[in-house]
Amino acid sequence: MKLKKEINKIISQALVDASIEVHQISVSQSSKAEFGDYQFNGIMPLAKILRRNPRDIALDVIKYIDTKGAILKVEVAGAGFINIWLNPLWLQEMTKKMLLDDRLDISKKKSNNIIVVDYSGPNMAKEMHVGHLRSTIIGDTLANLLEFLGDRVIRQNHIGDWGTQFGMLIAYLEEIAVDNMNNLKDLEQFYKDSKKRFDEDEEFANKARDYVVKIQSGDEHCLKLWKNFIEISLNHCQEVYSKLDVKLTPEDVKAESFYNDRLPKLIEKLENDKKIEVSNGAKCLFIDGEEIPVIIQKSDGGYLYATTDLSALQYRDEILKSNRMLYVVDARQSGHFKQIFNIAKDSKLVNNETKLEHIAFGTMMDKSGKPFKTRDGGTVKLVELLDESIIRAKESIRNKDELNSNELEKLAKIIGIGAVKYSDLSINRTSNYIFNWDKMLSLDGNTSLYQQYAYARIMSIFRRFNSQIGSNINIKTDIEHKLAVTLLGFEDTLNRTARDSSPHYLTTYLYELTTIFMRFYEQNPILKDEIEDKIRDSRLALALLTSKVIKQGLDILGIEVVNKI
Ligand code: ARG
Repeated sequence: MKLKKEINKIISQALVDASIEVHQISVSQSSKAEFGDYQFNGIMPLAKILRRNPRDIALDVIKYIDTKGAILKVEVAGAGFINIWLNPLWLQEMTKKMLLDDRLDISKKKSNNIIVVDYSGPNMAKEMHVGHLRSTIIGDTLANLLEFLGDRVIRQNHIGDWGTQFGMLIAYLEEIAVDNMNNLKDLEQFYKDSKKRFDEDEEFANKARDYVVKIQSGDEHCLKLWKNFIEISLNHCQEVYSKLDVKLTPEDVKAESFYNDRLPKLIEKLENDKKIEVSNGAKCLFIDGEEIPVIIQKSDGGYLYATTDLSALQYRDEILKSNRMLYVVDARQSGHFKQIFNIAKDSKLVNNETKLEHIAFGTMMDKSGKPFKTRDGGTVKLVELLDESIIRAKESIRNKDELNSNELEKLAKIIGIGAVKYSDLSINRTSNYIFNWDKMLSLDGNTSLYQQYAYARIMSIFRRFNSQIGSNINIKTDIEHKLAVTLLGFEDTLNRTARDSSPHYLTTYLYELTTIFMRFYEQNPILKDEIEDKIRDSRLALALLTSKVIKQGLDILGIEVVNKI
């Protein structure tokens, strides 16, 4: 349910009835229990316009607030705030409705949106490293969320598989060759080895340069080697995706090379627009208001990262019919996206109404605030990082002895991968992200393990109860009231998270929810003998609803729950 919207409606009606004209209002959650559940802070700006005392206006408005439905009582506070308490009877009804609904009473938009989410985008020349981790995790969550809310999502993995370094790799691939493909398990090493050959052997370097031209002009033999290489690297990526439990599949791959055949036509179109100037043999595109042009074709005829991206924008508009495109890419590429979005709009490569958004994120740092590297300064491989997380998770599992090795492995993977994802998603994406093993695998605080633990705890209550759980909810205590209000705020949270493409709103919400649940559980025993049946049933129903919200929330974040920890 859209809780805020319900309350806004009632307050808006009161303003109309008090003959006060406002267009849109918005209540917010109260910061303290004594201020009620929600608060309306919109009187002050009105007072200025109406030239009236804000308190007087507030006192006037509250006379018209309907307190027979969702709202129980209201109070004017301070200089003119209106504090709002929700009605427990209404909360009971709404939480019951939420519990009985498959989608937790969250509406599915009947939307015509086709949203492209461009994320992950590793480069095939090298092994996937931590730099691609954030894009993959944040992008996958946003795609899941938009899908859940009812938009059509098209995942696009814009992998880097084209460009000069591939000539070098192909020459080397040919040299060490075909019977020794296993070497490619270590792509990083393969890249280093071929680079070494390239730097020390002139003949090899010439061959490599030759190959670049040959690949780009469609030479069959070279293309075959290139394809082989890409296939091996892609398989490696797919392994990472499956370990990381993200939804990207080979079908989502639209690599840079995919756009190759479309590039000459694109250049032609831009040339017809007379936007292109040739400078030192390179074709440059000038954008209104920008001094520095964007090079879209080099003097040797080669294309650039920006050219391919312009073609992708056109393809996504024309063929995929997308009306919103999210690019989940490192903040350091902001300049690039600003330029290509400007060109795309200006040269009508995309529809004027199409929303183009760079979902930027900060750099991953180590504990001392330096970019995340291995001890000897190299790039950290993603697979190794994920494996380490799983090993560390295994160590943190307390009831190891009760599990067989399969169960332990499975649990460690769920906890370890969940921790890597959650700790990334739980900070404001625009900040740099400080990677900290201890913090992310901690049981207290805003971590996935804390959520998974709360969920498992609820499951253990149900195992002990061992009977059907009903849906009648009775709100008596303050903490039950708070829990119900928080549960009903789930849809508002999801919408806000989607609006700002900010997964940390959702993690903050889940953390608050589990914290409140833990308090509720401490203060309001569920299974003790002396508890009346009706109260027990209600508390079980609240626990069930909490577990469903945690599960759904984590599912959107791409994190699994477990029944036992
Ligand atoms: N391969 C690029 C990189 O690693 C990221 C691709 C992002 N997507 C895009 N459409 N440019 O920097």
